[in-house]
Amino acid sequence: MLSKEEEIDILKSKSNYEDAQSSSIEALKIVQKSRGWVSKQAIREISKVLKIPESNLEEVATFYSQIFRKPVGRNIIRYCDSVVCYMYGCEDIKSCLENALNISIGGTTKDFRFTLLPICCLGNCDNAPTIMINDNTYSRLSLKQVVELLELYK
Ligand code: FES
Repeated sequence: MLSKEEEIDILKSKSNYEDAQSSSIEALKIVQKSRGWVSKQAIREISKVLKIPESNLEEVATFYSQIFRKPVGRNIIRYCDSVVCYMYGCEDIKSCLENALNISIGGTTKDFRFTLLPICCLGNCDNAPTIMINDNTYSRLSLKQVVELLELYK
């Protein structure tokens, strides 16, 4: 069941849009912010609040890769795999992170400390390669620095 706060925030957000469908991404973000991910049950509940079909919300949730459909780690690592970062070694960074965390792309560590995801260009190409951990951007890191960085996130 949605919390009262989630429901209020969803309805408040809906009032900023011309129709309920247009507010669906915001509704999904509200639920993800409070729960960390968006379950099928949560989609069902959002659809009742917005009075739109579940299938419409499923489509939106599937399209936007930043909406998580399964539980993720407390810290989300996104490494840019677009062309400039590729040229500057993002594959090495990806491998380094996979080894350090003992997971593959899309995976979550057993302790739910990290989830590792690829992302398209972060608009920081001048400083490639670029990764983000949660809302923080890091550039031009050596592989050693990448591993050291993980210690900052518990
Ligand atoms: S290609 Fe990686 S930040 Fe643009």
